[in-house]
Amino acid sequence: MEHHSHDIVIVGGGAAGLRAAIAAVELQPKMDVAVVSKVYPMRSHTVSAEGGMAAVTREYDSFDSHAYDTIKGSDFLADQDSVEFFVKEAPRESYQLEHWGCPFSRDPDGRISSRAFGGMSVKRTLFATDKIGFHLLHTLFQTSLKYENIHRYDEWFVTSLLVDKDRVEGVTAIEMRTGELVTILGKAVIIATGGCGRIFQFTTNGWIKTGDGMALAYRAGVPLKDMEMVQYHPTLLPNTGILITEAARGEGGHLLNKDGERFLKRYVPGKMELGPRDILSRAEMSEINAGRGFDGPYGSYVNLDLTHLGEITIEDKLPFVKELAEKYLGIDPAHEPIPVRPGQHYMMGGVHTDMHGFTGMPGLYAAGEVACVTMNGANRLGSNSLTECLVFGAAAGRAAAQYAMHENSPSFGNPVQGEAMVEEKRIFDQLLKNEQGEKVSSIRTEMQNQMEKNVGIYREENRLKEACRIVGELKTRLKNGIVEDKDHVYNTELVASLELDFMLDVAETIPYSALQRHESRGAHYRTDYTKRDDANFLKHSMAHKTTGPPRIDYSPVTITRWKPEERVY
Ligand code: FUM
Repeated sequence: MEHHSHDIVIVGGGAAGLRAAIAAVELQPKMDVAVVSKVYPMRSHTVSAEGGMAAVTREYDSFDSHAYDTIKGSDFLADQDSVEFFVKEAPRESYQLEHWGCPFSRDPDGRISSRAFGGMSVKRTLFATDKIGFHLLHTLFQTSLKYENIHRYDEWFVTSLLVDKDRVEGVTAIEMRTGELVTILGKAVIIATGGCGRIFQFTTNGWIKTGDGMALAYRAGVPLKDMEMVQYHPTLLPNTGILITEAARGEGGHLLNKDGERFLKRYVPGKMELGPRDILSRAEMSEINAGRGFDGPYGSYVNLDLTHLGEITIEDKLPFVKELAEKYLGIDPAHEPIPVRPGQHYMMGGVHTDMHGFTGMPGLYAAGEVACVTMNGANRLGSNSLTECLVFGAAAGRAAAQYAMHENSPSFGNPVQGEAMVEEKRIFDQLLKNEQGEKVSSIRTEMQNQMEKNVGIYREENRLKEACRIVGELKTRLKNGIVEDKDHVYNTELVASLELDFMLDVAETIPYSALQRHESRGAHYRTDYTKRDDANFLKHSMAHKTTGPPRIDYSPVTITRWKPEERVY
């Protein structure tokens, strides 16, 4: 088996992964870094981010205000030390990005423009019209090209972590072009693969967001934290799930029910369209359930009305919203409202880390959506996540570089070699050789429908139990799944099967964690426990892999300066 060796192996080439790579080589210019990504980095899901990135850059703003908004938004489940670190690092990261050439939108005085976003008490979301993800990713990617010792493995699919005596020593990966399994050894590994939105049926997430990194860490023994905390975004196009950015509301858009009423006055009167996403998504569902939504070919929806903003504002500030509405619905948003409904958007939960991305396993770090630092708690505020990728990507890159400086390179002997050979057998002798069985796509569809139906915006004991049972059954069925394409070269069916295997492991942790949280907090809303219960549940759930269902235990929330209080807007 071919093997490669680097100081640091980064899995994932989106914002967090690229930022980590740059931080590592900036700290240690001789550091040899590999970025391994299943897609060409510019196709990472970061590219689809629209609205902006939050940072304190104005005299009217303060770190305390950004921290408090984030903590309140999280329904007090965020670790406050992580949040304090985040808000202080955020401006530095934003200006760094600007200096690397990110084409932010500008005010007439030349400063980076900032806009209002949900749950933020002042305008602090820096933007590049409504295509920040595209520009941010380009900026990081082109910056990474400056460094000769950042090596890229584009279109290599990581299948497992190699672990020796509880220390990570690298990864196994399929080079998709040849279909060969190889090992890529590293003194440190940083997981930056993004979230797992594709577990759900209706999501803003691209096809690549299949929870790979969460499953890699979980299988290697690192717990997944706060997995019950799944964010639904209130404004997705009903037919495709494509995101209509919150910036549309930040610029003054209104949400209307079928009576033409701004219904949010009943739910978040103090914030209206700029309320947090968990409350807005539930408000839309309440309107729909009360018969005040519209019925359409893709289900019920409400309207996002931008017509009063005028053509110039829409063209200047929201050109992508206009393009999406026109292309996917044939609507000009300057003249007609856009139908929208809530859908899965982001995972607050993920691989347990501290604020330097350290997972607790020597050598293993994680950053970005895949990780749970945790600064988002039970609900993330819009526009905090790109900044999170930068701040914690950089922190993980630096921490991994510091660790790698003092470690010896792992050698390609046992047990690592043995583990790699077992992995090769699992994929090529078992999975690919199966001649009969169920197609991967039907199992995937059932998982997505099940998660949407029973682990969505509203949750309740029997439905969560049903989800636990069905996901367990689907895991058994996948063991007898068939990959019909037996070729090795660019075998996307094989990759889809491995992705589904990852997704099912990750999916299972969500209803199990949700089942045991007998309260409603942030995005986790239990119709059978409708109140927040700080006495019993002001704590993080930790899902551990076992040979059976996940084992859930808990870890404390770090409170520094903001005592939990009732969350009213
Ligand atoms: O609506 C949006 O632009 C999404 C932003 C985010 O999730 O941070």
